[in-house]
Amino acid sequence: MRVLVTGASGYIGSQTCLELLKAGFEVVGFDNLSNSSEVSITRVRELSGKPLRFEKLDLLDKAGLNRLLKEGFDAVIHFAGLKAVGESVEKPELYRKNNVEGTANLIAAMKEAGCRRLIFSSSCTVYGEVKKSPVDESHPRSAVNPYGGTKLAVEDMCFALARAEQGWHIALLRYFNPVGADASGRIGEDPRGTPNNLMPYVMQTAVGRHAAVRVWGSDYPTPDGTGVRDYIHVVDLALGHLAALNKIDDFAGAEAVNLGAGRGYSVLEVIAAASKAAGKKIPYEICPRRPGDSAAIWADPALAKKKLGWATRRGLEEMCADHWRWQRANPDGYGA
Ligand code: WQD
Repeated sequence: MRVLVTGASGYIGSQTCLELLKAGFEVVGFDNLSNSSEVSITRVRELSGKPLRFEKLDLLDKAGLNRLLKEGFDAVIHFAGLKAVGESVEKPELYRKNNVEGTANLIAAMKEAGCRRLIFSSSCTVYGEVKKSPVDESHPRSAVNPYGGTKLAVEDMCFALARAEQGWHIALLRYFNPVGADASGRIGEDPRGTPNNLMPYVMQTAVGRHAAVRVWGSDYPTPDGTGVRDYIHVVDLALGHLAALNKIDDFAGAEAVNLGAGRGYSVLEVIAAASKAAGKKIPYEICPRRPGDSAAIWADPALAKKKLGWATRRGLEEMCADHWRWQRANPDGYGA
């Protein structure tokens, strides 16, 4: 099977390219490199020992998309998109243009080329304010920030497309909180600027890039008062995409599936596990809540098990050990 991966040099995109190559798929990737480094692609080639064609290309370049899709692909896995919640609040139009209009351009190019198998990188953010966990795919959706609004808009675009036209097979994979890195320590998360997400900030603190982790709130109605999330190892997440690809023709139209572990860990539990992995106490300070954060959210992973025959296999200890190995070997990520 010949697969096109958008956002291929990113954190989840590069890990997925590696797992696809190891599984024998032919892979072509592109990325606009606005928030990732092409070094990840070089390392995926080294780790897999397989060819991986990569192009610098932007979702807003319609001609470029049409040219590439016309080469003929059996399926597209679509990761490319802006994903910083805070930035989306400041620049909603940039997020709409890039994430929504960009995806519309990709789908138009797929239609033109006769490719109707799409796996889309959606997010648990589409569930908006979650009152009770575990969350299954029937939970109402709402946009609590412009980033989440773009994921919702793309999902609705896919549902409408699949209703209007026969022959589409679309998997909307709703990720929970991706963390960890490939066990080789050669590819991993390399956020630009100061990370908003917990794990990269914790690990950057462990290598001395920050004085202490800021714990956003310790007065939530959770066992230790800090926020609870469903962390999923990025390798398990990549394998979830492989499972969806192998079952993509079972997706009649567009269907959403949660990719999560089905259990939550608190901020303090993550810091403790990361400290153990790093062999040092990672300092933290309790700070006021971050606006927009919910207390607790974790997935009901039953549908993924049933439809994809997939479940996570890596626990928090392995997530932290693998993330630490990457961070320690690459204290400044892929470098400037
Ligand atoms: C996790 C927990 C924070 C940073 C976001 C996106 C979601 C998905 C995953 C893309 C919360 C606490 C965090 C810090 C902290 N991304 N925290 N100190 O907000 O659950 O989800 O990333 O799809 O769409 O919304 O992830 O890592 O930011 O926060 O205490 O420096 O860690 O309050 O409880 P979040 P996160």
